[in-house]
Amino acid sequence: MCGIMGYVGDRDTTRIILEGLAKHEYRGYDSAGIAVIKDGKISELRTVGRVAQLAEKVAAAGLTGDIGIGHTRWATHGGVTETNAHPHISSDDRVVLVHNGIIENAREIRAELEAKGIKFHTETDTESAVQYLGYVYDGDPKEAIVKLTARIRGAFALVIMFYDKPREIWVARKGSPLVVGHAGNEGFCASDPTALLEFTHDVWFMDDDEMAQITREGCRFFDFSGAEHEKASMHLDWDAAMTNRGKYPHFMLKEIHEQPDVVAHTLLGRVADDAVDLSRELSWTPDEAAQWKRIHFVACGTSHYATIVAQHIMETFGNFEIRTEVASEYRYRNIPTGPDTLAVFVSQSGETADTLHAARLAKSRGAKCLVITNVRGSTIHREVGDALITPAGPEIGVAATKTFTAQITILTLLGLYLAKLRGELDPNTERRLVSALMDIPGKQAAMLDREREIELLARDFADARGFFFIGRGIAYPPALEGALKLKEISYLHAEAYPAGEMKHGPIALLDKELPVVALVPKNELWEKTISNIEESMARKSPIIALATEGDDQICHYTRNVIFTPETEPELFPFVAVVPLQLFAYYIARQRGCDIDMPRNLAKSVTVE
Ligand code: G6P
Repeated sequence: MCGIMGYVGDRDTTRIILEGLAKHEYRGYDSAGIAVIKDGKISELRTVGRVAQLAEKVAAAGLTGDIGIGHTRWATHGGVTETNAHPHISSDDRVVLVHNGIIENAREIRAELEAKGIKFHTETDTESAVQYLGYVYDGDPKEAIVKLTARIRGAFALVIMFYDKPREIWVARKGSPLVVGHAGNEGFCASDPTALLEFTHDVWFMDDDEMAQITREGCRFFDFSGAEHEKASMHLDWDAAMTNRGKYPHFMLKEIHEQPDVVAHTLLGRVADDAVDLSRELSWTPDEAAQWKRIHFVACGTSHYATIVAQHIMETFGNFEIRTEVASEYRYRNIPTGPDTLAVFVSQSGETADTLHAARLAKSRGAKCLVITNVRGSTIHREVGDALITPAGPEIGVAATKTFTAQITILTLLGLYLAKLRGELDPNTERRLVSALMDIPGKQAAMLDREREIELLARDFADARGFFFIGRGIAYPPALEGALKLKEISYLHAEAYPAGEMKHGPIALLDKELPVVALVPKNELWEKTISNIEESMARKSPIIALATEGDDQICHYTRNVIFTPETEPELFPFVAVVPLQLFAYYIARQRGCDIDMPRNLAKSVTVE
């Protein structure tokens, strides 16, 4: 949802900005731009398209600067044009800025400034901010930003340069993520901390209603009234190498392959002797846990599907009343929430606006809130209180893979721990599931060994019109995620249905050009799903089955079978998701799609 990078220092400013933007491209990639100050003059270059195109323009123009800011855009207000691309400059050429977010009262400000004779050049909401700054700036950047932040409404991460301040960058945040770093005589800012890892691991996450001045000498922090305050930095334990593709052609493939390690890391320190213990992270008492009558899982996209997996698993061993809700709906419905509610917010990025607002709402209604996120220091992590961090490392591919697996691992542990605190967990179930979880990395690795088989299968089906995914019980939530992966990266229509529900409508769509991917693990629902496979075959749909190793009967129905290793029935999603991700990946590759940066999507959606 737009990526921002800023640099103050003695190195090659444009190179650092361009490399930083490339790390942000997953956040938006319809246009990009850069601005620098050199010899007291602002220069900028913008382009429709990717950061690589911007880099070509920068090289051709020989652009250099003493300080600089850059932006990669995911359009909200105004079409994808070079004019609308950031950075934006005030009409008097004195102020330049980049913005992530939405300025809600942009029209009003524009009308006010146009009435004063200021000429606007773009269709963006952002231009109202830069023109306003140009209008009020009288040589004191802090005062101008105080006035701006009092005037604009909405969400923003702003990075600003003033023509007569060639040694400083200013940033301001409300609602959109922004992180600041400093090392030696260099200062940085970025939307995503991974862009700073090669320079420093100690960063300041900007809070709402906070601004900062970044110079070679250091960073100073102020509130929106202009009062200065001290701010503690946070140490990031991610390794810069984690943000490289390594030997893989795409981040998505690399991240699919990381899943066995991710599960192992997620379990580390949380299970021992076949028992789960989250007491180091959650200081919940049995009395407290007993008072939560209901559990709300709230999330978006893949994280939402992870919570549906959790719901299915938890219902097998706990006496829980669970709701799973997409955050954008949860906020606007009158769902009973209060001190008897445990509300769990799951967000890979920790920045998704819908999830963040839903968490704020639940908190204001007195619910006990817990966040599960992959980004320590993200806004949700800092705001919500209790947290479980998934140690999946940075996920760069827009389509989530390893973070889904990390989420379902930690959610399973959470369910077990909660049931145990409430005295509801049968010790045998705990032993059985924890020991089965410990085996998951090996089973996922075995699944990855079948990559070539899945690639060949994907090739056979790459020209399909679309896909249906079906599954019953525990096989339904991975069907949802499998269909989502395919939609996201191959642009094929893919829909997941509880297998038994298909006959109540969607079956009308089936024909020989619409394959059905049936998730049919060997469990008590096997026969029922087989009946649904038969129904699909009767409508001539080609069948691809995901079945349990040793299930010979499945071959009577189709020769397109992906066998998954046997596991405890509840944990089927862990082994099912890997081949489904690979299937989507190879279909998209066969179709020549832009796998790591699919059209219209952004990895972190910071607008509602
Ligand atoms: C976006 C991404 C999805 C992701 C969802 C939730 O829509 O494109 O891949 O699942 O946001 O993101 P979160 O960071 O909150 O898990």
